[in-house]
Amino acid sequence: MQTSALSTENIRKDFPILQRMVRDGKPLVYLDNASTTQKPNQVIDAISDYYKNHNANVHRAVYALAEESTEAYEKTREKISKFLNIKNKEEVIFVRGTTEAINLVAYTWGRQNIKKGDIIVTTEYEHHSNIVPWQLLAKEKGAKLEYIGINDNGELILDHLDSYLETGKVKLVTFSQMSNVLGTISNSEEIIKRCKKAGVKTLVDGAQSVPHMKVDIEKLDCDFFAFSAHKMLGPTGVGVLWVRKEILETMPPFHGGGDMIREVHKYETTWNDLPYKFEAGTPNIADVIGFSAAIDYLSNIGMDAIRQHEIDLTKYALEKMSQVKGITIYGVKDILNRGGVISFNFHDVHPHDVATIIDREGIAVRSGHHCAQVLMERLNVAATNRASFYIYNTKEDVDKLIKSLEKVSELYKL
Ligand code: ALA
Repeated sequence: MQTSALSTENIRKDFPILQRMVRDGKPLVYLDNASTTQKPNQVIDAISDYYKNHNANVHRAVYALAEESTEAYEKTREKISKFLNIKNKEEVIFVRGTTEAINLVAYTWGRQNIKKGDIIVTTEYEHHSNIVPWQLLAKEKGAKLEYIGINDNGELILDHLDSYLETGKVKLVTFSQMSNVLGTISNSEEIIKRCKKAGVKTLVDGAQSVPHMKVDIEKLDCDFFAFSAHKMLGPTGVGVLWVRKEILETMPPFHGGGDMIREVHKYETTWNDLPYKFEAGTPNIADVIGFSAAIDYLSNIGMDAIRQHEIDLTKYALEKMSQVKGITIYGVKDILNRGGVISFNFHDVHPHDVATIIDREGIAVRSGHHCAQVLMERLNVAATNRASFYIYNTKEDVDKLIKSLEKVSELYKL
């Protein structure tokens, strides 16, 4: 039962892990894609091909292998620029992932620009990685961290943003383009427009949005943008920080070491050109090359088709799941404003218990606070279960998830 947008049957053949059985011969139903996605053969093969045939450090030597690996590494930067409509590929910095990208901004731009009494604004539905670095910075500088709240539908209350902007003290507004718990798609362009009008910088956490919808950084017009490869079929340990060039040029380096220098003397160092100034040490070459294959894979399918598939699947899941007795589903009702993420609770059974019981049926969902404890407090829950979809999920997967909840009911006599 595939949606009309994608040929899920063909896609599934590319993912070896989806062929395996778990828990005494149950087919795997993988519904934890907001956490990390599975990898197709094309990505696994690209990494293996690099190590088998091209392995050499980048940017350092002139022999054949070094040229090949440098070319493949740099090609990924170009591919990412095209994928996200970034004009200047020197603005694309490879990092370990979204968390490192946000920390880089906090430690470099943040330390240079945030002063005592300034305000940094984040949101109530942020991942810890878009809260904790700002808490650390605010404490160090004597600045204040404020939150754009959410309404009962799980959407940001933009009036809160306006009242912070009116103080004239806000230096940065940082928010995720899609919530990892509620799936809410933020009204990013409107937020950025309001911030620009007030002369305030914006950082967008694209960890959950880039894998699932078309993102155009040029059009978005933010100042910083962060995302990870592993949530979009790529390997773990690679991500991207994009920074507008005028800002990047003013930022001090994050890490010191090889590749980020031009000249080093006993007491003085000058920096390499962008983006290398921010890529100290031997980078994660193999995984950057694997990331390239992931972008090819997604581009071949097309981001519009991927988004449509997830709209169809999420609509189906929300309709079916809301008929289940005892279920509480969190988040936005309007399907066009949410991604393929459904957080839910079942009666008053602890989410870890629900997840453990349905795991015996082969169903993999995440349970817990989803690295979003501020949001859990706002929702007044300790934890939730979360099912999150990707290109290989089917309506059958949703049916199996719902069926597996019957096991919980049986066990708890609900
Ligand atoms: N950020 C990942 C998640 O939401 C780990 O599960």
